[in-house]
Amino acid sequence: MLLTIPYAVVSSKAIIKLSEATLSVPKNIKTMKLYPEAKRIFRELDNLGVQENESIDVQSLFAFDQLHYHGIQSVQACINTLNIKRGDKLLEIGSGWGGPSRYIAHMVGANVEALELQKDYHDVGFSLTERCGLSDRVTHVCTDFLTYENKNNHFNNIVSWLALYHIPNRQKSCLRIFELLKPGGKVFIEDLTVFDQNANINWDLLKNDLFANSLISIDDYKSHFENAGFKIDVCQDMTIDWSKFTRDRYSNFLERKNEFIDLHGKDLFDQMKYFYMKIVEYFNVKAIGGLRLICSK
Ligand SMILES: C[S@@+](CC[C@H](N)C(=O)[O-])C[C@H]1O[C@@H](n2cnc3c(N)ncnc32)[C@H](O)[C@@H]1O
Repeated sequence: MLLTIPYAVVSSKAIIKLSEATLSVPKNIKTMKLYPEAKRIFRELDNLGVQENESIDVQSLFAFDQLHYHGIQSVQACINTLNIKRGDKLLEIGSGWGGPSRYIAHMVGANVEALELQKDYHDVGFSLTERCGLSDRVTHVCTDFLTYENKNNHFNNIVSWLALYHIPNRQKSCLRIFELLKPGGKVFIEDLTVFDQNANINWDLLKNDLFANSLISIDDYKSHFENAGFKIDVCQDMTIDWSKFTRDRYSNFLERKNEFIDLHGKDLFDQMKYFYMKIVEYFNVKAIGGLRLICSK
């Protein structure tokens, strides 16, 4: 059944898309073993002595609410490069738990729309933002970016970490980003790419492990943004850096094995171990790489 009202405001700042029956939500994002349980972050907080529903100092979240490489260091680089200012309107595509959005809102006082596909991550992000007292600056929207509706020329900046490669139809997402951005606005993206399409790997398994729906080379990435009308300001190959980062992340995770299992259980440990291990393998065999792309309208 088609519902005609596309969005429902369920509280002042959480907007949920109603027409779930008609959404093109890919069914298998949970096959990616980074995503099985959004609420695990509450146990991390509990471990620090912050009980569920208690208010939170946003800074105490920064160590574990960022689902991308180099955490807030990368988000700060984004703030500096884009010169994000108080009152700017920003969109984060694929916001996960909302970590980057909250960081930007807290650090510069920008108004951020945190757009997330997965309802459980959206819900946790919304709750964390409320508990940090940032609901006046961060609006959580739960929808697929490909069906996201908003005015053209609306945002000063659009940002995204490790999300666009999940979204099918790169041409459409680039055009939509271009439309949503104000003239003169800038985009900051960090994302996975194909490094060598001839790498000796099971590509179907890789696609499944990473929920990769539009994994493309750096050159193709740039071309898509140029074709949409953008001027490329910076295109940085992050492959060597991220390859090391993910190796270190995997060994740190293994070192924390007993503590992790005590907190989250063996099943979640095994799932996340698999994910972290496969990422290391895919970087090692040079199947995947990464980029930072900054471009302007
Ligand atoms: C690796 S996580 C990164 C989250 C966040 N950017 C961060 O760095 O903390 C990528 C996020 O993109 C979201 N995502 C994937 N496809 C999406 C889509 N079509 N629309 C909106 N979000 C999407 C995923 O659900 C996931 O939470």
